[in-house]
Amino acid sequence: MRRRTAILISGRGSNMAALIAAARDPTYPTDIALVVSNRPRAPGLERARASGIPTTVVEHTAHGQDREAFERALQAEIAARQIDILCLAGFMRLFTPWFVGQWTGRMLNIHPSLLPSFKGLDTHRRTLRAGVKIHGATVHLVVPEADAGPIVAQGAIAVHEDDTAETLAERVLALEHRLYPPALALMAAGRLRFVDGRCLISGGSAPEDALIVPGF
Ligand code: GRF
Repeated sequence: MRRRTAILISGRGSNMAALIAAARDPTYPTDIALVVSNRPRAPGLERARASGIPTTVVEHTAHGQDREAFERALQAEIAARQIDILCLAGFMRLFTPWFVGQWTGRMLNIHPSLLPSFKGLDTHRRTLRAGVKIHGATVHLVVPEADAGPIVAQGAIAVHEDDTAETLAERVLALEHRLYPPALALMAAGRLRFVDGRCLISGGSAPEDALIVPGF
């Protein structure tokens, strides 16, 4: 039976749209069964509805400072839909260890940097400031510490000398849309194992060629 994935968003939902598009393929190992937003006006909600995906809103503001009360409401919505896997896609809330514990080994996030470099927000601006030549995106398992879980997949791009935070964001986002669907497929197909803080992939392979910047 196809696993059931819920996507959690707070904003525009372009990664969500990439996952929904991938899951239209009948050979893809999971359905996108639900999209949840903590913000009622998240543009991604409309995109999900237009694709025929059930949506729901669980507003964190309804629970004031009580993070666990918000998470219990969220968990109730998700449990009602028999969800197997959670994907965070631009979901702008940090979770308590309690919520993460409900989803151990079953919750993915995508982050716009090559982790463990540039955890947190504003990654493209910080990347430029640091002067690194290679930047990218990471899909990782969610653990209680932010942006710190075992790495499932990474993609890299060259940083150009005339890049701005905006041009970098655009190229990294396009990369994210290529990275997230196959990473979720690996999890849904049961091909990931988490051992000592690392993610091992059964039947995985990696290209031999290197990305070298600048080109020589
Ligand atoms: C992406 O850059 C993702 O890596 C980060 O938040 C952004 C969400 O963009 N976690 P979108 O809502 O998927 O378009």
